[in-house]
Amino acid sequence: MSDMDQSIPVIAIDGPSASGKGTVAALVARALGFHYLDSGAIYRVTAYAAQQAGVALEDEPGLVELAHKIALRFDGVEVYLNGAAVGDVIRTEEAGRAASRIAALPALRAALLQRQRDFRQTPGLVTDGRDMGSVVFPDATVKIFLTASAEERAQRRYKQLIDKGFDANLAALLQDLRERDARDAARSSAPLRQTADAELLDTTSLTIAQAVERVLQWFQVAKTRP
Ligand code: C5P
Repeated sequence: MSDMDQSIPVIAIDGPSASGKGTVAALVARALGFHYLDSGAIYRVTAYAAQQAGVALEDEPGLVELAHKIALRFDGVEVYLNGAAVGDVIRTEEAGRAASRIAALPALRAALLQRQRDFRQTPGLVTDGRDMGSVVFPDATVKIFLTASAEERAQRRYKQLIDKGFDANLAALLQDLRERDARDAARSSAPLRQTADAELLDTTSLTIAQAVERVLQWFQVAKTRP
């Protein structure tokens, strides 16, 4: 990372699955006119690319090689893998599970690090994931750990899937979220956790607009710090 990169503001929003961090991050980015990086999509696309290429989800060297090879582009909410739109196929629960499996592999995480840092461009970046504040952008202007109760998150994911026309089962979603949380928190490489310098934002009883407002306030305060 160059010195110039470090002068570009970053708002790093981390938290568990279906906490609403993606929605909040995208709205904060829009409000500020900043770029937005959905880092989970990078893991989802890589897992999908592996399945397409016949690379096993445990094959760490194979996944690293693939991670360096694939062409990945974001355009609004759409994601392109080697030129093909994959936004819908990577949003399924199965794709999330596959992403979470490969995300536990340290060499793969390292291979995806620079790709994520490259999104730090003027006038600023809002990014969401699990380790944006702890690993990818440790010098972020403001770090937020955004969460909500598992029941509330399962409800939100359920509604999101139904709205998109997918089948969904609330009990299965809750079970799946708990398993994914446990796997993301227990892994040795970049586990999901609130760092000491991150603000805690529990959105269980907040609206999206309230959560966005809170993040913008923290950013305004952080910006004026020397
Ligand atoms: O956020 P999303 O549900 O799209 O992420 C899918 C999976 O990718 C997560 O369950 C997590 O295991 C992994 N991930 C990660 N680090 C990130 C973003 C996502 O390990 N920064």
